[in-house]
Amino acid sequence: MQPEQYNLSGAMLKLTPLGSAKNVSEGDRKLELLLDLGAMLAREVELDQLLRVVGERVAAALNSDRATLWLVDSKDGSLRSRVANLPELDELSIPAGQGIVGHVATTGKSVNIPDARNDARWAPEIDRSTGYQTISLLCTPVRQLEGKLLGVIQVLNKREGHFDQRDLVFLDALADQIARALAYTTLRSSAGTQGVPLRGPFNHIVGSSDAMNKVYERILKTARTDATVLLHGETGTGKGLFARAIHVNSPRSQGPLVHVDCTNLPASLVESELFGHERGAYTGADSRVIGKVEQANGGTLFLDEIGELPLALQSKLLRFLQDRSYERVGGRETLIADLRLVAATNCNLQDMVDKGEFRSDLYYRLRVIDIALPALRDRSRDDLRALAEHFLTKYCQRYKRELHFSEESLELLCGHTWPGNVRELEHCVERAVVLAGAPILSGADMALEQLNSGISQSTTTPDTPSDTMEFRLPADCSLDQATALFAQRAVDAHDGNRSAAARTLQISRNRLSRLLAPK
Ligand SMILES: Nc1ncnc2c1ncn2[C@@H]1O[C@H](COP(=O)(O)OP(=O)(O)OP(=O)(O)O)[C@@H](O)[C@H]1O
Ligand SMILES: [Mg+2]
Repeated sequence: MQPEQYNLSGAMLKLTPLGSAKNVSEGDRKLELLLDLGAMLAREVELDQLLRVVGERVAAALNSDRATLWLVDSKDGSLRSRVANLPELDELSIPAGQGIVGHVATTGKSVNIPDARNDARWAPEIDRSTGYQTISLLCTPVRQLEGKLLGVIQVLNKREGHFDQRDLVFLDALADQIARALAYTTLRSSAGTQGVPLRGPFNHIVGSSDAMNKVYERILKTARTDATVLLHGETGTGKGLFARAIHVNSPRSQGPLVHVDCTNLPASLVESELFGHERGAYTGADSRVIGKVEQANGGTLFLDEIGELPLALQSKLLRFLQDRSYERVGGRETLIADLRLVAATNCNLQDMVDKGEFRSDLYYRLRVIDIALPALRDRSRDDLRALAEHFLTKYCQRYKRELHFSEESLELLCGHTWPGNVRELEHCVERAVVLAGAPILSGADMALEQLNSGISQSTTTPDTPSDTMEFRLPADCSLDQATALFAQRAVDAHDGNRSAAARTLQISRNRLSRLLAPK
């Protein structure tokens, strides 16, 4: 029989018709899976989402019991897996070269084993720890185009009969697709090393200091529940990032994550923005509009900068938090939304409560689980270095440059105080990537004195009035990049506070965020 052919550039593929009804549905499942992965290629991918798709859909597409993606940890070459369908288990780990998965990683060759227990390479420890019994097994390496090994995909226990050649062809094709999808996660590896940098339990979050490990632990415990969470920390400590991590790791991850930035809401529109309005609710309301609360039904509502929520709205939000019920503005019907609420703030809400600016009853409702995110100065030097390297890889990829830190530049970054925290560090590295002249970044490339002096005093010349500024742009800079750098200067001048920078620039905070990250 002619094997199926897969053309996996992007999401395109060609499946030859398969004949029997049973096979057609298996073909459909395969097609669906490839399209899922294809869709992931269009955007930044959450590692957990990728693991879930691989775990559930690959198993179904190959009519088997379970599929696992093992990733090679670039630190020590061991293979690691978070088993998406067994969330109660911690990450599994296999030392390099051990077991069939280790064998495939070492030899780079696929294997198809009808009875694993009779195979000399089989290491039964994993089955022992999971209580699962492996019989048949299909296993193939996941490689980048240049051949570098990223991981191994393993499929267990064919439901009927054995895995055959067609299954293997499919799994090989799929492994290419997974390698592409991995390049869209933050698990991009640095040149020369095998594997991917596995940083911690969350794909986009870098840092393994004690302070960060405590946060991870709390976030993971909380994510599984429906409890309301209040994230607080200075500007740029990753509140937005952790809100997303809570959603992605929660049972609601398939539902929407709806972000509401309370600083962007004029007091007169907040209620309708949150709860929606009926047609004719006020002049200009010519149709019914669904609010953010309704949009978040089944998922997570993220109320960012909750300290900015006008007092009048605080009582409405409190009522909603008590019984999840609300009315659209101008509507009579009482509606219920089933959602988990995550709120974030860089204000001291307790102080605001003391001053009568924030309702105490709302504060207590919000802080069921209270998670404080550490400032950069409370993290280890290793965290700083890891973050700097992470952003260097990210921006080298975005601006298509190949650069490395000199030891001097890293030392300077680690010794600097970062009032704007991770965001400020990130933009410092981005700016260096855009402006650097040589492949090794020097201390001067980090331009830390400029950062300290802020926007109004930066690089002014004797001819420049003190309320104007000059700054350098690369000669081949696009208008979007120039605008992004300009906007970033304004943010730096406000110690990383985007709301204040947006006010100075007389634009909304959302618009500022878009300017800072040009496509
Ligand atoms: N631990 C981290 N690992 C990787 N990137 C991080 C980390 N923490 C923050 N960042 C990055 O720093 C930037 C700021 O993070 P984020 O927007 O989540 O901060 P924030 O606390 O919400 O700040 P603000 O209070 O100003 O809104 C983002 O680009 C984010 O991706
Ligand atoms: Mg934020």
